[in-house]
Amino acid sequence: MHIRLAILFSGNGSNLENILKKLHKKKVKGIYFEVVLCICNNKNAFGIQRVEKYNLKSIIIDHNDYTKREEFDEVLVNEIQKSKIDLTILAGFMRILSPVFTQNIKAINLHPSLLPLFKGANAIKQSYESDMKVAGVSVHWVDESLDGGEIIAQKAFEKKNLSFKEFEDKIHILEHQILIQAIIETSEKILKENNV
Ligand code: GRF
Repeated sequence: MHIRLAILFSGNGSNLENILKKLHKKKVKGIYFEVVLCICNNKNAFGIQRVEKYNLKSIIIDHNDYTKREEFDEVLVNEIQKSKIDLTILAGFMRILSPVFTQNIKAINLHPSLLPLFKGANAIKQSYESDMKVAGVSVHWVDESLDGGEIIAQKAFEKKNLSFKEFEDKIHILEHQILIQAIIETSEKILKENNV
């Protein structure tokens, strides 16, 4: 059983590196994972250096080179389909995707809040500043809504008296855990659906 992964990222890439470290060319729960494609929309992203450590190359597809969102998405779709990817992971990929992407690609996204609360780019700050006693992270299927697809997994924690830095660190630790678990669970589901 073999799962070919694509990872899309835009910046720091700590989740991307965690996937490479824990899953790339590894057999977990009977599944051999291979990261076949790393795509980045930002040529200055630190994640590009992380990818090189694993003897892989990132493909840079800069959204600024396209006038329409759909044109950019079509290039992403072509790359992913060409590489026969089973599952695409958005790990800090800061672009809204159109139906051109969502209707053609099976993808999951990581988000630093307990969805459906705090969608969008400022989730960590909003969640920290809210009156809620708990916070958390989510992984969900990608559809054309912003951070709105079906939820696959969530992890929550009590905010207590954490400083913002402690809160942010906690979010990132949980993100690293939940994304790996969600990739494994989702891959098991995909293989089952394909009768492998
Ligand atoms: C994470 O907080 C993720 O939830 C959000 O962007 C951040 C990416 O971090 N979408 P990194 O690039 O994986 O370090």
